[in-house]
Amino acid sequence: MHERIDELVAAARCELDDATDRESVEAWRVRFLGRKSELTRILRSIRELPEAERRQTGKLANVARRGLERALDSRLAGIPPAARTGPAVDVTLPGYPVRLGSLHPLTQVLREIRRIFAPLGFRAIEGPEVEWDRYNFELLNIPADHPARDMWDTFHVKDDLRPGQILLRTHTSPMQARVMEQVRPPVRVIVPGKVYRYENRDASHEAELIHIEGLAVDKRITMADLRGTLTYFSRAMFGPDRKLRIRASYFPFTEPSAEAEMTCHVCGGGGCGVCDGSGWIEILGAGMVHPKVLENVGYDPDRYQGFAFGMGAERIAMLKYGITDIRMFYRNDLRFLRQFK
Ligand code: PHE
Repeated sequence: MHERIDELVAAARCELDDATDRESVEAWRVRFLGRKSELTRILRSIRELPEAERRQTGKLANVARRGLERALDSRLAGIPPAARTGPAVDVTLPGYPVRLGSLHPLTQVLREIRRIFAPLGFRAIEGPEVEWDRYNFELLNIPADHPARDMWDTFHVKDDLRPGQILLRTHTSPMQARVMEQVRPPVRVIVPGKVYRYENRDASHEAELIHIEGLAVDKRITMADLRGTLTYFSRAMFGPDRKLRIRASYFPFTEPSAEAEMTCHVCGGGGCGVCDGSGWIEILGAGMVHPKVLENVGYDPDRYQGFAFGMGAERIAMLKYGITDIRMFYRNDLRFLRQFK
């Protein structure tokens, strides 16, 4: 019996060397390790052997089987995958879709606004969100205790050394004063940035917003320049058929002050739900820079004039994309964001 086992192992190892693909290795396995193989038969018959032989033969047969199983494993490992499993990858199948991110709608609108104003010579700059009262109000012709301060519900920053002097800017207009303090005319800038209002949030109010300020100062700048610039902007942003109208308004830092409205981009001016039936949509506040503001920054109002405007990025995006709840911009809801590819 022992000899027979040795013979079997020797024969099996010899034949395994010749098995070079999956089928021949499998045939080898059936033949030498399968249920009907001689080795298996020997293992099964061990319990019928006389007591004295049983233990030794059993041990030998088991060692032989384990040895062959190991040889089988390493043989399989040595066969290259293609020969062992057939074609592993079908390279002609379409791949799995990869989900790409996209720019936030406000980022898209801001980029577009920059792109629209760039060819007119407006450079985009940014400024501080934590601001001095002086820039947010004083230099803009809004002294302390002036009733116009009620137009901006303000978050103040607590500071014991300078009580009431530091705040979160309520608009980007303080950058008008900061820029004019730094450079001589001609000035042409747009200022995108975060502003803060002490507001209760609802579908049309947010406490944190993005504004874009525009400022142009030079000799002989008139309201016609403002009008032309805003007409160009509304056409570039909302379509070539937009008409612009300007209505009287009030801001302490512009004189005269205006509210720019464009013909509704949804109904074209006939009246619909978006424009509340009027055919007109307000898009921003604007005006000619107030002489007092020019004086405050050291410009001579008899030599220089300018126009300024300020708009809310959320409002522009809501109009452009037909969004009805301003809070959607800040909810990080992917079902909303994925619509802006
Ligand atoms: N800053 C004004 C606002 O917060 C908008 C504005 C900017 C008006 C510039 C006139 C000129 O509403």
